[in-house]
Amino acid sequence: MTKLKTLLLQQLFKPTLISFIINPFFWGRAAIYLSVKKYAKAAKGKTLDVGSGSKPYKDLFSNVTQYIGMDIEVSGHEHSTSDIDVFYDGETFPFKDSTIDSLVFFEVFEHVFNPERFLSEIKRVVKPGGTMVVTIPFIWGEHEQPYDYARYSSFGLKHLFDKYDFEIVEHKKYLADFRLQFLLINNYLYGFFKKILPGMSAWIFIIPFSFINNLLGLIFYILPKNEEMYFGNIYVLKNNKK
Ligand SMILES: C[S@@+](CC[C@H](N)C(=O)[O-])C[C@H]1O[C@@H](n2cnc3c(N)ncnc32)[C@H](O)[C@@H]1O
Repeated sequence: MTKLKTLLLQQLFKPTLISFIINPFFWGRAAIYLSVKKYAKAAKGKTLDVGSGSKPYKDLFSNVTQYIGMDIEVSGHEHSTSDIDVFYDGETFPFKDSTIDSLVFFEVFEHVFNPERFLSEIKRVVKPGGTMVVTIPFIWGEHEQPYDYARYSSFGLKHLFDKYDFEIVEHKKYLADFRLQFLLINNYLYGFFKKILPGMSAWIFIIPFSFINNLLGLIFYILPKNEEMYFGNIYVLKNNKK
């Protein structure tokens, strides 16, 4: 792996000055990172990260005693940078009933073809009163293709959580402001340059455009929020179970 590629990967998730300059997805990643940071303290004890990938937010969970990453083997990305403790078949969680204190998943729900089966497995393995911290995108392009199946509105999610008696303790929409527009422009330009230029050479154009649009996002952040147009949701849920 080249030095530049390693640097780009490191800057992918954390909001730093370098990622502000070079990361086209800076505002989206920063929004998720800061939202998870805000609510991470809700997770305690034995914690399961479903669809963990590289466990990018693990270090934010300082209250947990164990942090287990679980994922499926075949997905829309290579697992070369992943940190997975348990692989599963995408259907049945390999854990006994009521053995998990807290469960988290980040940017995974849209990749789950059968959300009701997924939620019923969460219901089964999480202890009564156990906590979940989850992020789910609302406006974003198709990714991890072809394993990208859905986008949910906050109303659709509430309906599903109610059905499984997951109490919504906290809910915030992140990036419900003008920064979303510049994030989407960067996403378009990233796809465009990646398509027309080979390998890493696309970054010669992606980086300056990213920086300009990240800066414009910062400037136009002063415009009013719009809670109907937002990047995604973070929820803290409680497993109400008799
Ligand atoms: C967009 S990535 C997010 C990875 C990681 N959570 C993060 O925030 O960087 C989506 C992840 O969901 C996983 N995934 C896809 N279908 C899944 C399923 N049915 N159950 C659990 N994980 C799944 C993929 O393997 C991938 O790691």
